[in-house]
Amino acid sequence: KTAEAALKDVFADGFKIGAAVSSGTIRTQENLLTRHFNSLTAENEMKFENIHPSEDVYAFGESDTIVDFARRHGMAVRGHTLVWHNQTSDWLFQEADGRPVGKGVLLERLRSHIETVVGRYKDDIYAWDVVNEAVADEGDELLRPSKWLEIAGPDFIAKAFEFAHEADPTARLFYNDYNESHPHKRDKIYALVKSLLDQGVPIHGIGLQAHWNIFDPSLDDIRAAIEKYASLGLELQLTELDVSVFRFDDRRTDLLEPEPGMLERQAEVYEAVFRLLKEYRGTVSSVTFWGAADDYTWLDDFPVRGRKNWPFLFDERHLPKSAYYRVAQLA
Ligand code: XIL
Repeated sequence: KTAEAALKDVFADGFKIGAAVSSGTIRTQENLLTRHFNSLTAENEMKFENIHPSEDVYAFGESDTIVDFARRHGMAVRGHTLVWHNQTSDWLFQEADGRPVGKGVLLERLRSHIETVVGRYKDDIYAWDVVNEAVADEGDELLRPSKWLEIAGPDFIAKAFEFAHEADPTARLFYNDYNESHPHKRDKIYALVKSLLDQGVPIHGIGLQAHWNIFDPSLDDIRAAIEKYASLGLELQLTELDVSVFRFDDRRTDLLEPEPGMLERQAEVYEAVFRLLKEYRGTVSSVTFWGAADDYTWLDDFPVRGRKNWPFLFDERHLPKSAYYRVAQLA
């Protein structure tokens, strides 16, 4: 096939290629999105503090705009996210007088939130990141400290999946996390999900966020993570793929454009990753990029302020980069 192949045709037969979007980028990146992608995720608009800012207020405007756009263009939608320690409103964990709520109240609020949000989009959203980043990065503790854990104990995880399943019995329900290919965290994510399955919790998949860079993780570690998660018999998806041109904490803020060597290495990484995805086509059903083109990425300024990044297959003018051609040739 030619170099102009749409990204979504590289795999065909139902494989979903997605992008995270905002109500702004569906305008500024409209042509690129509709040409190359067949799935969308709201980058922030469905997170708790955005969609449910106070107990009696749901703010569906921006998420509706994204879902309507997807529907108009025949694109699938992944929902992100129902339970997370970040971007979650403080009111959820407090009584009106500011004292912390008890477990019963918190879980009832969670049930009501999930029923409302998942219920609203049940015709459009085929998969949800039900619980995001609950596993601790370092140390022996399985779960990261959070208000959820502090108030409800580990039960909040199983409950979230049960509530989501009640709200939409046909939705595919995912546990989603980052550093998913690092051996220590991989084993903890595996242990958490295995225990959920052993308890009969309705969980259907694991989302590998895939916030990677041109040095890390190694392809062997990515492969080992896919193998290990797949051994649970679950569907896997890459949910937030980007390939930074810097090591995570590289403090270089002087670059106004990427160096050629960075882009060459990035192209190699993307080709290797997509070859791997083809190899695991029966297990991995989708890849979503955490953006679409280098004109906008959350990695600008994160984690190093003032550092621009260029993590995608398309450049700041939405033109294909060498990484794109290396992926498109696999069609
Ligand atoms: C990020 C967004 O991209 C940013 O715009 C926001 O300021 C912070 O959150 N893991 C996740 C995503 O699951 O929700 C995060 O998105 C990136 C890391």
